[in-house]
Amino acid sequence: MVATSFTAMDVSTADQWAVIGAETARNQPRVAEQVLGLLRSLADITDGFSTDQLTHCLQTATRAERDGADDEVVVASLCHDVGKAISVPGHPQIAAAILQPYVRPEVHKMILVHQDFQGAHYYHHFGGDPDAREKHRAELSPEEWELAERFADEWDQKAFDPDYDTLPLEHFEDRVRALFSKAKLL
Ligand SMILES: [Fe+2]
Repeated sequence: MVATSFTAMDVSTADQWAVIGAETARNQPRVAEQVLGLLRSLADITDGFSTDQLTHCLQTATRAERDGADDEVVVASLCHDVGKAISVPGHPQIAAAILQPYVRPEVHKMILVHQDFQGAHYYHHFGGDPDAREKHRAELSPEEWELAERFADEWDQKAFDPDYDTLPLEHFEDRVRALFSKAKLL
């Protein structure tokens, strides 16, 4: 391990920041391993659904893949509920923040708005607005809207079937590692 010695940022040097930059880049593979660990931890969360949350995430990604989605969309689909490992309230924002540096904007938005898009399928059971997705109409381009709709209606809301032929996490791991190996944004 290489370490710098400054005790406050205002006495740091460019050389020291070059060391930190190189070390951070060398350690980038830990990001994917952390995400995979969070995904595995979802196997312990069921919260009354018919499948545990890992199976739900795997099934969502499997459906996306079988519908011809690209790798960014498939990995984002796999990770869309990873925020539930920390907190169910706010989980779309947690997953969207984890993914944002590594995916194109429309894929980030697909995850960020997914709960409101899902609302069409269940919010009426507890007095919520089934058209909650409409509040995002102005902020999404037609292409972004179409992807968010496809994600919620075709993949996510249908992914609670214990009898579905769901692909295992190992099937997706290489693509998780590839996606989180390099940020598009810092
Ligand atoms: Fe979901």
